[in-house]
Parts: sequence; C-alpha cells; structure tokens
Amino acid sequence: MDVKPGHCWCCEKRLPQRTVPCDRCPVAVYCTTSCRDRDKVRHGAVECEIFQAKKCSACGKRGETLECSGCNDAWYCDTDCQRHGWPFHKAKCKGIMAFVKQLSLKLLRPKLFGSFPYYIGNTMAKDFLQLENNELSANREEKVHAMQEYHVLSAGCGNLRHTVLTAASLPDMYQGKLHVTLNDYDPFVMARNVLFLFMLVRFADTDYIASSLTTIWYSLHISKREYDLIKTSLDELIQMSAQQLHDASKGLVRLLDEDLIYLKVVWGRWRALECQRDKTTSINLRQQRKVLFDNCPFAKVNHPHYLSRINEKDRKMIEEWFEHGLFFPYEAKEKDMPFDNPTLTAQNASKIIPGKDVRLFLLLNNAQAVPHEDARFVYCIQPLRIPFEVWDCLRVREHTPGSHSSPMVMYHKYVTNLLQKVKSLILQGRLLIHVSLANCLDFPNHHQTLSMPNYDRIFTSNVADYVGIPRLLHTFKPLLNDNNSYSAIVTESMNWLETVPGSKPDVKHISDSQLANIMNRTPVPLIRDTWASDNFNNTPYFLQYLRADIMAGGLGMPSLKKIPSFESVKKYHGMEMRDFRKGLNKLVPFQYQRNKREFNKNNGHDRALEWCLPKG
Ligand SMILES: C[S@@+](CC[C@H](N)C(=O)[O-])C[C@H]1O[C@@H](n2cnc3c(N)ncnc32)[C@H](O)[C@@H]1O
Ligand SMILES: [Zn+2]
Ligand SMILES: [Zn+2]
Ligand SMILES: [Zn+2]
Ligand SMILES: [Zn+2]
Repeated sequence: MDVKPGHCWCCEKRLPQRTVPCDRCPVAVYCTTSCRDRDKVRHGAVECEIFQAKKCSACGKRGETLECSGCNDAWYCDTDCQRHGWPFHKAKCKGIMAFVKQLSLKLLRPKLFGSFPYYIGNTMAKDFLQLENNELSANREEKVHAMQEYHVLSAGCGNLRHTVLTAASLPDMYQGKLHVTLNDYDPFVMARNVLFLFMLVRFADTDYIASSLTTIWYSLHISKREYDLIKTSLDELIQMSAQQLHDASKGLVRLLDEDLIYLKVVWGRWRALECQRDKTTSINLRQQRKVLFDNCPFAKVNHPHYLSRINEKDRKMIEEWFEHGLFFPYEAKEKDMPFDNPTLTAQNASKIIPGKDVRLFLLLNNAQAVPHEDARFVYCIQPLRIPFEVWDCLRVREHTPGSHSSPMVMYHKYVTNLLQKVKSLILQGRLLIHVSLANCLDFPNHHQTLSMPNYDRIFTSNVADYVGIPRLLHTFKPLLNDNNSYSAIVTESMNWLETVPGSKPDVKHISDSQLANIMNRTPVPLIRDTWASDNFNNTPYFLQYLRADIMAGGLGMPSLKKIPSFESVKKYHGMEMRDFRKGLNKLVPFQYQRNKREFNKNNGHDRALEWCLPKG
C-alpha cells in the first residue's frame, strides 16, 4: 500500500511543512505523531515490513541484505548466511518456484464475454498526469513546462471519470494543452462518452450543464430538463459527420467516420426509447433495475457488506438510493423526475460478445436482422457497480467540505465541480479528445495513421488481466514519448488474488480483542475483512503472480524458459518498472488502504504497476 506523495500515510491529508517520518522505514511520512502512532499496527504489518532494512533469514540481524532470487521472499547478510540458511529455506523456496512455474502454464486469462458496458466503472478514478508528482516536481519554476502539451492514451478507457479527474486536477500554474486519446472497443461506452463531451460544449453557455451531466451520468430518473438536453443532443449528433462533430464540439472531439457509424446506432436507439415514465409503453428502468438486483446473488452479499461499513446516517440514505437510484444535488423526489435515463441502457448484455462482434451485432440490430428480444436496449448497470465506489472518498470530502444531506448530494457536488473545471478547460481550447474504437492491441496500427505524437502516459485499465502484461508492454512501448523521462505505461491487475493460494488473509484468525484494539484507532468503522486486508501483507503473493504473468507470455509473446526473478521482471522488454516495494509509484498507488475509504470499493485487489523507458 502506498500513498500519493506529499500526503500523510495515515489520514492521507496533504502534509504540513513539518512532517513526522516513520522511525523504522524510509518511506512512510505523517502529518503528526498521533497519525504515526495510529498507523503503527497497520503500517508495521504491511509496508514497514517491505520498506525497512530486512532481517536476515539465517542469523536474524537487520541491515543490508541480499534477496533470495529464487523466491524473492528470504534475505541474507551474505552468501555465508545464505549457505547456512539454505537447509531451512529450501522447501519454501522450491515450493514458491514450482508454484510460479505451474501458474504460468495455466494462468487464467478470462474472456470478456457478455459483460455489461462500463458506464460507471469499477476502479478508482485516476489523475493520469499527476504533474506535481512528476514533470512539475523538479521544474516548478520553469515556465517551459507550464506551457508544454501532454499526450495521454487511455486504452480500455471505460467511462470518462479518469479524463475528467485529470483535466480538473491540472495545477493552476500549468497553462498548456492536454490531449487525451480514449480507446475502447465497446461502442456503448464510447457513445456515452462522446455524447457527454458534446453536451458539455453544446450547452456550455448554460450554468447548469455540469450539474445536469452529473445527473445524467448516474441518475436512474431525470427531469424534463435533462431529458430535453439528451434528446436535442442526440437529434443533432445523429446527423453529423466526423468533421461536423469536430467543428460542432469546437475542436474537442476527433474521431473517424468508420467509428462514428457504431456510435450513431447507439444514439439512434437511445433516441427511440420511450422514456416518459407515465406511459404504459415506457422502458420502466426502475422495474428492470429491481429485477437485476433481485437476481444477482453477489449483490445480496455485497450490498449489505458495503452498507455495514458506512455510518448510520449515510447508510440510511444509501439504502434508500439502492431503492430509488436518484442522483441529484439536492434530495430529489421520484415523482418530480418524470423521465427514465436512456443513457443507462445498452443492448441486452447477456446476448452480446464484446470486441468486434458487438459492432457487427449492432449493425445487424440496426438492420432489424436480429431477434427482437436480443436487440432490445435494456438497463445495463451491473448491480455491483455504484457511483460512490469509483471516486476516492477522501478526495471527495477534501474538495466538498461542509455538511451534506446525503452522500448522493456530496458526490453530486464533487463531480459537478470537476465537470465545471473541464468545461472551462474546453472553452479555453486546452482539452482535446481523440476517440478510437480499435481493439487496443491493434491501436499502434491505428496510431500510425493519425500522425499524432507519442504519449507521455499510457494507461491500460486492467486489460492486463485479459491479455497479460507481456503483450501490453510489447504493444505500447513503441508509443511512449522517449523525450520525456516521466513517460510511463500503467498496467493494472484485479483478478490475480483468486489465482494465488494464501493471498487472502484468514479473517477467522483475528481475535475480537485484536479487532477492538484496532477499531479504537481508525477514523471509520471497520468490518473484519477490510481490517484484515489492510493489515495483511499480500505483496509476496502478488510477486508470485507477476512473475508467472511475465513468464507466461501469450497472445503472440513467447513464454520464458526460466522463471524470471523479480529483478528481471522489473527490466522486462527493456523497460524499467518503478519498484512498488520501494514505494516508487508516481501515478497510481500500488494499493489503496480500504478502512478509511468506507464509500469505496470493498475488495482491495487492484494493483497498479508503472513501466518506464530506461534512463539515458
Ligand atoms: C478491462 S474493462 C474493466 C473495467 C475498468 N476497470 C473500468 O472501471 O472501466 C475496461 C474497458 O476496457 C475495454 N476493453 C477490454 N479489452 C479491450 C481491448 N482489447 N481493446 C479495447 N478496449 C478493451 C472494455 O470494453 C471496458 O470498457
Ligand atoms: Zn495525518
Ligand atoms: Zn515504516
Ligand atoms: Zn545473516
Ligand atoms: Zn528463496
């Protein structure tokens, strides 16, 4: 687990001038001694173990050590100690090696069949650039950097939250232009993204478009005003060529006509839906949502679990939100919202296969060549996806101070503020969006035809879970901007935990008194398993997974004959991975702390890796 640079490792607030370092490791820093002390048990069990000088596995002395390159999980003062320790270490070491090899042979790379489009998303919103931790960290005074243009590629981008957070987080001193290439082969997600971007420009002269867009992003029902905004936008978009869209969005959105075809099918279907709730032929999203919730066994477990972490007052409001799905900047009444939100629908998710097939299906659908039931546009938000999970609740609170009548209101204000900033950037001509519906593995071919510069950041969502890290690094390394020493490819892994035995803490072994002791010290109420995962160092298990993933190759990449050591993983394909065991990530925390983020997702599996070009 690591924390955004410049923030306290306990409360994650911005650090004051005088800071309090951890007395055992060189990485953790706190705002006060009280924060340091409150974090002692957790941090001591997790990062401190990883970051501080290691204990020799043979003689027990702490100091400079050599790592066992077989398992990456034993340390020795010198080769003498290693030789003495070997008889005791042998079994564990060989066991880990055998496991990595075996895992690499049968690595589960799930296919993305029949999934719902990611209209809401399932990972924390990220600031792609983090200029203050990167380019501007060393060059705060240099005007040149403040004017520089940045290029970001988001492959498998899903919805707009990362783009919105990035654009809204640009520091005031930065006056340059930001180019974001959004790539996702899902035409539904992209239709929604392009619609939202267009609306932000089309209605920029109103003072409510940012707020209305937040509502349209998340609310099940909407007012007539929001519905009319959508309808007018769709009517116009459906008529446009790519060039006209570029002009009408004042240069904001650029895409190819061949991609636009698919978006238009989606827009046409949204426009044709009967959204007026009092009509008998209406799409009745409320009913559809209820059926989805009722039939989702995971929701039955996860929703109560989610609610149990939240304080009583907010819990009640979120319980009600599970019922009504309204998302407004005030306590809205259902009866005042006469329309269903057509942008929460897509083609019947259980019938579609993502990738190229979706698009073929869409065209067939449009030509009325698929059975009516399959072609229907239905409510398609996966019941486990909820808006509060994807915006870091520590940041939401920081930027939306004061008391709010409900979490919905607080989150609505937060997202609206971000969208306001994005709007102003767009109006200054400083945000430019390029859209591509290519399979991200084919994106480099597409990139060549665009005469675009290389990228300062390449984010790859968790596509690594599906295609493996080797294929992603081979695909995207040639697209990194080698003139920028801060250029990086970010890969994420979410599904690894299930593949490595032992990687989950055994919650049963935590005594009640241990739990009570911790509860007194943390800022938010806890439940057993979030506490356990925050206090359990599963990084050694992730290492095993990572080595197996690199060893496996796949999708045209050769597998490796020898099990790669962590040192060689870090240099895979001539790249330099920022060592998460030294807390070196500069863009995305390697792992988020969960206990203090009670509104955020309650599985803590996401791991982010940052890959750079070698220096010099
Ligand atoms: C990998 S999924 C996971 C969801 C993601 N964590 C989020 O919160 O949006 C993210 C997006 O990647 C897209 N995607 C997956 N594989 C892709 C590929 N090979 N090329 C382009 N997009 C891809 C999916 O359509 C989806 O919208
Ligand atoms: Zn603090
Ligand atoms: Zn420490
Ligand atoms: Zn020793
Ligand atoms: Zn070993």
